[in-house]
Amino acid sequence: MQQRPYDRAKVGRVIGWGGEHLVCSYEGNRVIKFSWHVFFSRRWGVKKLLKDYRIGETYFAPYLLPTDIRVWNNSNSAVEFQPKVNCRTFTKNDLLNERIMSQIKDIFSCHTRMQQEIHKSFDIFGLKGLIGRLPHHELSNIMVTDDDKLIILDFTTIDVKPQWFEWPLLLFLRWAQRRQEFLLKKYWSEI
Ligand SMILES: Nc1ncnc2c1ncn2[C@@H]1O[C@H](COP(=O)(O)OP(=O)(O)O)[C@@H](O)[C@H]1O
Ligand SMILES: [Mg+2]
Repeated sequence: MQQRPYDRAKVGRVIGWGGEHLVCSYEGNRVIKFSWHVFFSRRWGVKKLLKDYRIGETYFAPYLLPTDIRVWNNSNSAVEFQPKVNCRTFTKNDLLNERIMSQIKDIFSCHTRMQQEIHKSFDIFGLKGLIGRLPHHELSNIMVTDDDKLIILDFTTIDVKPQWFEWPLLLFLRWAQRRQEFLLKKYWSEI
């Protein structure tokens, strides 16, 4: 596809952001997500986006929010569309809720299986979770709906072997992975 797959006039207000995306409402009941990684790394960013989503479908299907990834500009650009969901970020306090607890255990075991099988990690904490204050670490890529269901609306793998032109990312990604392993051990020790 060559044409931009969205109508600029329908892009509404910013409803969120994180380490990778700017999230805006789109036509009321959907969101459109723009990735800075795709913006800077172009074809490689698009490739990773598509590959990560397939991995997410393989290991986390019951939790993954359906995402419509539209690619254009000779596969150099992409945007993501998702339904707009009413949700909040998972925090440690959610471990007190039994229904949520059994889902988070399941997500963690899907993650362990993925690490064993393909040697990749899911960016569970997201930037906000990695740098947050210790006692309150949020899993900023896992959300809780009003009826206590967990959903993943941002599935990205931590790729510790970026493309050569992405070298400024390398140290950050290595740090992110070590930090996540440390925080995951802490979570496991509590559940
Ligand atoms: N489908 C969605 N519905 C409602 N809010 C969303 C949706 N996707 C993202 N958001 C909001 O935007 C924030 C950042 O989105 P996310 O996909 O995690 O971006 P990043 O990849 O930058 O971490 C989320 O924490 C959430 O508040
Ligand atoms: Mg996120």
